[in-house]
Amino acid sequence: MQQTLSIIKPDAVKQNRIGAIFSRFESARFTIVATKMLHLTEEQAGGFYAEHKGQPFYENLVRFMTSGPVVVSVLQGENVIKRHRELIGATDPQAAAAGTLRFDFAASKSINAVHGSDSEQSAKREIEYFFTESEIFSRQTKG
Ligand code: TYD
Ligand code: MG
Repeated sequence: MQQTLSIIKPDAVKQNRIGAIFSRFESARFTIVATKMLHLTEEQAGGFYAEHKGQPFYENLVRFMTSGPVVVSVLQGENVIKRHRELIGATDPQAAAAGTLRFDFAASKSINAVHGSDSEQSAKREIEYFFTESEIFSRQTKG
C-alpha cells in the first residue's frame, strides 16, 4: 500500500480547517497512519523545500511555512500519491479545479493551504524527514 506526506500549512491551520481537510482525506478513503502538529524552524522548512533553494519565492516560502503551526501527516492508500495531489489541486488556486482543497481553502499561489508529495521518491524522503518508523501506524485498509 502506497504512502504519501501531507502538510496542512499555517494558513489552513489558522483558519481552523484541520478537521475539514482531514474529513476530505477520509472521504477520499485515504487512511491517516501518522500525524502531528509542529511549528517548523527556519532550518526545518528550508531543508524540507531544499529543491526550491535559489528560486525567487524560496525565502517567502520559508517565512510562510514558519509563520505558525502545521499539521504533518502520512496518508496511506491505493495510488495515494497521485490521488492526494489531485485532491489538493494546482499550486495556484486560480488554476485549481472546483472541489479541490486549494480551490476551497487556498488564498494564493504562495499561501496555498496544503502540501503533497509529488512522486514515490519525494514521498519517501518527506515521510522520513518528519517521522520515524515507529511513529507510522501502517495498517490494512479495505477496498
Ligand atoms: P511547487 O513544488 O512548485 O508546488 P506544489 O506545492 O504544488 O508542489 O512549489 C512549492 C511551494 O512553493 C508552493 O506550494 C508554494 C510556493 N511557490 C510560490 O510561492 N510561488 C511559486 O511561483 C511557486 C512555483 C511555488
Ligand atoms: Mg512540490
